[in-house]
Amino acid sequence: MCHDNRDYLSGPKYVGNVSLDGKTAIITGANSGLGKELTRQLAKRENIRVDFLVNNAGVMDYQRKVSVDGIEQHLAINYLGHFLLTNLLISRPGTEPIGKIVNVLCRQKIKKIDFEDLNCDKSPYDGRVAYSQSKYALFLFTKELAKKVQAMELPTVVCGVFPGIVNTSLPRNLVASNNFVFRIMYKPFLWLFMKSPYQGVMPILRVLLEETPSGTIY
Ligand SMILES: NC(=O)c1ccc[n+]([C@@H]2O[C@H](COP(=O)([O-])OP(=O)(O)OC[C@H]3O[C@@H](n4cnc5c(N)ncnc54)[C@H](OP(=O)(O)O)[C@@H]3O)[C@@H](O)[C@H]2O)c1
Repeated sequence: MCHDNRDYLSGPKYVGNVSLDGKTAIITGANSGLGKELTRQLAKRENIRVDFLVNNAGVMDYQRKVSVDGIEQHLAINYLGHFLLTNLLISRPGTEPIGKIVNVLCRQKIKKIDFEDLNCDKSPYDGRVAYSQSKYALFLFTKELAKKVQAMELPTVVCGVFPGIVNTSLPRNLVASNNFVFRIMYKPFLWLFMKSPYQGVMPILRVLLEETPSGTIY
């Protein structure tokens, strides 16, 4: 019954059988959670040649940490890394354009960028705000990138997708996740309403493998 409930809540599955013969996919953050499951699903259909870029790597942490360049980690990992990788890949001279770029987004409540405090070091640190801000930046980037590739007359399709709330190790650095009471009392309850990684990658697979208009967020 629990499985049926989670299955029902997780939304439609990807049921197509698109052949990935001769295609290659680049997926950031593929050693756990959604990235790992997505790689598994694509590998079933794959015969390698890169046509897809999935900007999936992500971090969620309550503590302020910085990259080696001194950039706040949510901004660095969730947004800037993908911004740089994508721009480097789409402007490689003499190479085939990427077929589709999919950015893995989050339905965050905060929909603004604090340009006065991009590095989150001026006001008291709140990891949820830093996470939301970085994912909102990725959302805005998705929209702008779609316009940019169109202006560059590239055939690349750019989309964003919300995977929903998925039972992965993403919140492992949040205080609640390491709290004994939370783990014993609430986590089993939450589990009922969370998608499994398999269910979580279905919307990503659908956006990746079905025909979708560029600039669309799913
Ligand atoms: N789970 C959800 O409910 C949910 C909801 C909305 C959106 N998302 C988004 O989905 C994406 C995948 O998250 P997930 O839920 O699958 O979490 P996850 O299991 O923690 O996977 C995150 C992946 O990102 C990688 N990563 C983290 N920092 C990195 C870095 N500096 N460089 C390269 N890779 C790095 C991780 O590698 P390591 O394990 O080596 O750190 C891991 O493979 C994230 O962008 C997240 O924001 C998740």
